Amino acid sequence: MSVPLDQRAFRDAIGMFATGVSVIVTQVGSEVHAMTANAVSSVSLDPMLVLFCAAKKAKLARNLHEVKEFSINFLRSDQYALSTYFAGRWQDAVPPPYRLVAFEGALRLEGCLAALACETGRIIDGGDHWVTIGRVVALHQGIPPHKPLLFYGGRYRDIDFSDSRPAPDLSDVVDEPAHVFYGE
Ligand SMILES: Cc1cc2nc3c(=O)[nH]c(=O)nc-3n(C[C@H](O)[C@H](O)[C@H](O)COP(=O)(O)O)c2cc1C
Repeated sequence: MSVPLDQRAFRDAIGMFATGVSVIVTQVGSEVHAMTANAVSSVSLDPMLVLFCAAKKAKLARNLHEVKEFSINFLRSDQYALSTYFAGRWQDAVPPPYRLVAFEGALRLEGCLAALACETGRIIDGGDHWVTIGRVVALHQGIPPHKPLLFYGGRYRDIDFSDSRPAPDLSDVVDEPAHVFYGE
């Protein structure tokens, strides 16, 4: 069934793509910004590159072009309050507890499922968002259980671990370093 192409329909369609939930943490001097983001993807294995998309009107985007290092923090299923808080939608007077700790030149959110420390590579104009590509410089894996927070259809969800099917083994897909061209 084809549906009219408008922003609501686009949001609904893209909302059918289940994702994890991350918090991007940037720092420029003493100014720290943290923003909930699910527009996050791996880009390349060799070199290790990831991307995130930040709305141009988001506070985090104000000094994005000055950001040298940032972290991407993958939230656990029980960290949905942090997702809502870092999306600026927290209603209570008292914020949910969290701590930022040093992480290879960046700051990471303590207690997450996993975190990536990145150096900013290219920042690409992506309509009303900036697409930031980062070179991964450090990895952090949190303690078990490894239960991610999911976002699907505009709601937070949990994985049902009782239901799974094998997927192809992709570990040998990239064996040759790719040529990546940076800069102008
Ligand atoms: C689950 C979830 C995922 C989100 N993903 C993104 C995203 O990928 N990019 C983005 O710009 N905003 C995203 N947002 C919205 C921002 O977190 C929110 O608008 C932003 O933090 C508010 O901007 P402010 O920091 O300027 O107040 C998401 C929000 C939620 C709850």
